[in-house]
Amino acid sequence: MAAPLKVLVVCLGNICRSPMGEAVLKDVAAKRGLDIEVDSAGTAAYHAGEDPDERTVATCKKHKVPISHSARKVTQADFTHFTHILAADESNLRGLQSVKPKNATAEIRLWGSYLDNKPVPDPYYGGIRGFEDVYDQCIALSNAFLDDVVGTSTTA
Ligand code: 4NP
Repeated sequence: MAAPLKVLVVCLGNICRSPMGEAVLKDVAAKRGLDIEVDSAGTAAYHAGEDPDERTVATCKKHKVPISHSARKVTQADFTHFTHILAADESNLRGLQSVKPKNATAEIRLWGSYLDNKPVPDPYYGGIRGFEDVYDQCIALSNAFLDDVVGTSTTA
């Protein structure tokens, strides 16, 4: 059997995009019958300890995706604990590369590189519509990631 998948979704503040990405990836994986570990973190610690942004929570609720997370900054241990670290945008990817320890074993990629190479844009300073767009991207990117690393879903 393949080694268990352990996935860390990373953005800047860990209150908007990556907690939504974590929640959506968990939900999509569960619906495929996959038992994988998913967590999220930020490259910055501004919001450490906070719940996800209320717009992220409202969007997940609307789509009946369970969400529960306490914001935290990426740690050195994350680079060996997780098998895959998925950056929401190129700035997050650069942030990860700049703190990556020498013994890192995780595959570190732009999440969009599994689909269309597009970043997940930061919705923090915009309205709720931006969060809906992030949700749609998280669904597409979760499916693309799982198709790539696990294989194409046989369920609809
Ligand atoms: P996130 O969004 O990286 O998707 O969690 C942000 C949240 C907070 C800030 C920036 C982006 N901030 O500057 O406080």
